[in-house]
Amino acid sequence: MPRVNAHKVKHIGIAVKDLDTVVRFYRDVLGLPVTHIDEVPEQGVRIACLPIGDTEIELVQPTDPTGGVAAFLEERGEGLHHICLQVDDIDAALADLATQGVRLIDETPKVGSQGPRMAFVHPKAAHGVLVELYELDR
Ligand code: CO
Repeated sequence: MPRVNAHKVKHIGIAVKDLDTVVRFYRDVLGLPVTHIDEVPEQGVRIACLPIGDTEIELVQPTDPTGGVAAFLEERGEGLHHICLQVDDIDAALADLATQGVRLIDETPKVGSQGPRMAFVHPKAAHGVLVELYELDR
């Protein structure tokens, strides 16, 4: 049995240039609620969280011009940036992926702004999709 044990799409991340402009589209045009907008200085981003069903859309605006999201926008423009999978045990998930030779951006989990732990799988290992693994607080 695979130990990644992903069981939910926690959120879908969308890279944007100007969070406030894009929030207006999602909130006022599409009618989605915005539960919070946060600075995440350790990742050099500002995010807006918009729940839909039992998942969320995460709008991500770079605040660090040298960071990964800024580079993504430069190369590819705005759009789908990552898919976040919720796992029960991120240490076991990363260990299992490492054993399988999967290239990881984060070999060990980072702690996010709300406390949960997360790590990114390299998009080259995941056929062009940046995959975020996310463990809820236990
Ligand atoms: Co994310």
